[in-house]
Amino acid sequence: MRVLVTGGAGYVGSVTVETLHEAGHDVVVLDDLSTGHRQAVVEGVPLEVGSYGDPATISRVLATHRIEAVLHCAAKSQVAESMADPAKYYRENVAGGVALLEGMRTGGVKRIVFSSTAAVYGMPERTPITEDMPTIPINTYGETKRTFEQGIRWYGHAYGLRSVIFRYFNVAGASERNGEAHDPETHLIPKVLAAAATGTELTIFGDDFATPDGTCIRDYIHVRDLARAHLMALEATDPGDTRTGPRDGRCVPLVCNLGSGAGYSNREVVRAAEQVAGVTIATRIGPRREGDPDILIASAARAAEILGWRPEHDSIAEMIGSAWAWRKTGWGDKA
Ligand code: UFG
Repeated sequence: MRVLVTGGAGYVGSVTVETLHEAGHDVVVLDDLSTGHRQAVVEGVPLEVGSYGDPATISRVLATHRIEAVLHCAAKSQVAESMADPAKYYRENVAGGVALLEGMRTGGVKRIVFSSTAAVYGMPERTPITEDMPTIPINTYGETKRTFEQGIRWYGHAYGLRSVIFRYFNVAGASERNGEAHDPETHLIPKVLAAAATGTELTIFGDDFATPDGTCIRDYIHVRDLARAHLMALEATDPGDTRTGPRDGRCVPLVCNLGSGAGYSNREVVRAAEQVAGVTIATRIGPRREGDPDILIASAARAAEILGWRPEHDSIAEMIGSAWAWRKTGWGDKA
């Protein structure tokens, strides 16, 4: 399959590109390198530097490489930034996304797998979270992802766009080659590992949540498991595969949570990192961060039933261990 991966120089995108490339697919990366890293793109995979939101660029890239399916990983994805600058998130995630869909429609590309987020659920009333629960985002980031999900839905209805929408929970870990290198970093595991490596203090945002140890519980999924799910999803958008619709006619997105179905508290994450790194990590309790739900755990049943996907690396020790090993290669510091 000839696949275009937008955001293929980013964290999730780059590890997925490795997996698709190893599976023998012809992969092309489109990334504007605003947050991605050139060196994250595996050798032998063409990198087109540009924006999926630019109509001329997307049309040219789809046609030149005779793309059959798009994996849309590129996006703005920082919750705090989305609240301070919603215009940027509507411009990139919504307007840019529609430009991508238009490029696909006019170029006759009818298959998409989209990286959405558990942030579409907002403050869910219960866990585990199933895909049919209401989507009421509480931040602009989640809202723009939800809006684009709906765009895909209506393109499927009217134009037969075949799609899989993945709602990611907390992605963690690394491949041997690629890992998480955001600037600024806001995510717990890379910050815990930075504290372990440098001896700085980690602030845990609140310890008065309704959980056994008072800190938030999140569902972590290994980025390599996530990458494998994308491979399975791209296969499911084949025109002959009824999981994403009839061969011709109206299609409905296959929406799946991607999580491991288990949760770890922030304190448990710190403890696991201490064991992996063999050091004591200094922590202090700070105020709650705005908008953090007590517990977010996915039901991963649908991805298992329909795609046959199950996490293979779901121990927090393995996720943190791989992130630590990758950090020690020094790649993230040079990024
Ligand atoms: N945390 C700390 N200290 C830090 C950083 C994080 O205590 O320095 C805590 C957070 O308060 C939270 C937990 O660690 O309780 C996890 O926080 P992350 O920022 O790592 O991840 P989130 O659960 O906030 O966000 C993730 C994705 C988002 C997505 C969301 C959906 O990164 O993109 O899940 O639920 F929107």
